[in-house]
Amino acid sequence: MKTLELKITHSQHYVGADEVQKMLPSILEAREHLLKGDAAGNDFLGWVNLPEETDPAMMKRLKDDVARMSTKGQVMVVIGIGGSYLGARMVIEALQSEFAAIPEVRGNKPYIVYAGHTLGEDYYHQLLQFLDTVDYTACVISKSGTTTEPAVAFRLVKQHLEKKYGVAEAATRIIAVTDARRGALHDIAAQNNYPAYVIPDNVGGRFSVLTPVGLIPIAMAGYDIDRLMQGARDMRSICLGNTSLEDNPALMYAAVRNAIYRKGIKVEMLVSCQPNLRYLAEWWKQLYGESEGKEHKGLLPHSLSITTDLHSMGQYVQDGERLMMETMLRVKNSNAEVRVPTDEKNLDGLNYLANRRLTEINDCAADGTIQAHVDGGVPVVEITVDKIDEYTIGQLIYFFEFACGVSGYTLGVNPFDQPGVEAYKRNMFHLLGKPGF
Ligand code: PA5
Repeated sequence: MKTLELKITHSQHYVGADEVQKMLPSILEAREHLLKGDAAGNDFLGWVNLPEETDPAMMKRLKDDVARMSTKGQVMVVIGIGGSYLGARMVIEALQSEFAAIPEVRGNKPYIVYAGHTLGEDYYHQLLQFLDTVDYTACVISKSGTTTEPAVAFRLVKQHLEKKYGVAEAATRIIAVTDARRGALHDIAAQNNYPAYVIPDNVGGRFSVLTPVGLIPIAMAGYDIDRLMQGARDMRSICLGNTSLEDNPALMYAAVRNAIYRKGIKVEMLVSCQPNLRYLAEWWKQLYGESEGKEHKGLLPHSLSITTDLHSMGQYVQDGERLMMETMLRVKNSNAEVRVPTDEKNLDGLNYLANRRLTEINDCAADGTIQAHVDGGVPVVEITVDKIDEYTIGQLIYFFEFACGVSGYTLGVNPFDQPGVEAYKRNMFHLLGKPGF
């Protein structure tokens, strides 16, 4: 098992190793809260044991349903928002070709499109126009079963499916993931006999990617959910089994980011070196933003993709207000080889790169960026994985989740609630004239 590596040397000009070590007692106390379930939010700790305790019978049923749905069309609409959407999209976008929209590129794999994450009218017009042209299925995901954005999207997609295939056939093309007992989606699924999967009560949305919330879309897109779970399981053993910062990258990450925050840094940028990790950054932003952004505390999660964003945000990071730390997500090996070709005329002057792999060039760009940002006073933490596949993504999921729980308790907040998400909903319902608002 190759595991992810965490390196903090490039943050030590800002927080010394001794300052990070001093965090250990509070980090271990936070870890104990997660393991004993004796602090605020303890009714939302089901994710800690998901990789070990997921029911094999549920996994079999899920794979059977996915196999059956895969025969029904080359497209699946995944309907959900926030924690009911970002995890699946993060894994799928990390693993699939950037050009998977083109059928010749993705081959037999179904293509996943998304709905319920926006209220943009043009988006839905374009989606429904697209759905007119393909055979498709839908997976609707909402823990509460009442969230407005996915409810509106599901009404549109359900009616489109029923018009296209008839009510009975439409019902065989829909899977629902929701609460076991409550909510409008639960009732709709029960009345229409949709295959239904449960989001466990004790798993919050942003920690739910290893439940059917993430597993159904990921399996539907053709990826190996057993390898994903195995990666998470192996990382769980490391996170639960080690109490020193050196042997437990999740504890070290929680320690270093809290130490840096306490010294005045306000923003953490997750910097990915590959474009296919941009949704991993979106998922991470929700995970850390919703878990820690409370009581006027917490690092603001932001993201950059390099080298793309060095040509837009690089100036600010180098020279702007000193607000930020960087967590750079590095990938040692690419899944395929591309080398710079030789050109006899060398008019572009690039022959000094001839025959070198793009990974080598990208690595030099990342190292050059770290040096420059350290010179500019930015603390940089590096997380390196061997390559992008289901196993390493599973490791990253568990690593970031465990570190987030520890980090949130160390910060002194309840990492498992999200009271701030309700404020805009109350205003929106009032403006829309929803009964009771
Ligand atoms: O993490 C969370 O709790 C939120 O982002 C929710 O996942 C999001 O609001 C969607 O909620 P629901 O699954 O109830 O539709």
